Amino acid sequence: MKLTKVKQLYEGKAKKVWATEDPEYVIVDYKDDATAFNGEKRGTITGKGAINNKMTNYFMRRMQEAGIKTHFVEELSDRETIVRSVKIIPLEVIVRNIAAGSFSKRYGVAEGTVFDAPASEFSYKDDALGDPMINDEYAVALKLAAYDEIAEIRKTAYRVNGILKKILAECGVTLVDFKIELGKTSDGEIILADEISPDTCRFWDIKTGEKLDKDRFRRDLGNVEGAYNEMYRRIFG
Ligand code: TMP
Ligand code: ASP
Repeated sequence: MKLTKVKQLYEGKAKKVWATEDPEYVIVDYKDDATAFNGEKRGTITGKGAINNKMTNYFMRRMQEAGIKTHFVEELSDRETIVRSVKIIPLEVIVRNIAAGSFSKRYGVAEGTVFDAPASEFSYKDDALGDPMINDEYAVALKLAAYDEIAEIRKTAYRVNGILKKILAECGVTLVDFKIELGKTSDGEIILADEISPDTCRFWDIKTGEKLDKDRFRRDLGNVEGAYNEMYRRIFG
């Protein structure tokens, strides 16, 4: 596709989004900037942008092969990718296989406690409100999505979990949990959007339990770049 960056539409915490010559497509540009705790903690993870771009595109391709529609179109460079233009549904969908992070804190469960079956939750994507947890009924009340759309989103999230878990197991990595975002195309179709990367997932080494994701940055565990590079190596060899 011959599309170029025409005008910057948006700058988020980890990515910039550019308009192209075609309103149906935008270019995402991944940054090395890292934030945590709703932007309170800031830093740089050198090389993260390129790793997250390539890893996201790899996972998106694998999702497409499994019949899940995604926004992915074409990787342009180390950090830039053409994606379908969508209106992001302001729901962050989290699927957990193992207790960690906010789940462990909120419910007083030790990190590493394995669930009998995956479990999901939604957050209302609103930085000013701190992305509060939300349920189906409140999401409908706030007109974020309709009931049938929420059901479809949850089903997609569990399918993504199954596919991602299998890919990662083959790389010696346990998928603890992850967050996805979905968007609506101009014709009203809901497709997988945003990113799937060490920024948005918890990855633990299958054997040692070593954290290979952004928790190393969030919790000041050190070797942050090393973890991102190790995840890249596990997936691309
Ligand atoms: P949590 O345990 O902090 O709720 O995080 C659950 C998952 O969601 C974890 O894989 C990290 C991811 N996540 C994001 O992608 N963005 C965020 O803003 C937060 C808080 C978590
Ligand atoms: N999205 C979070 C932030 O607002 C970062 C995170 O914990 O993943 O900075």
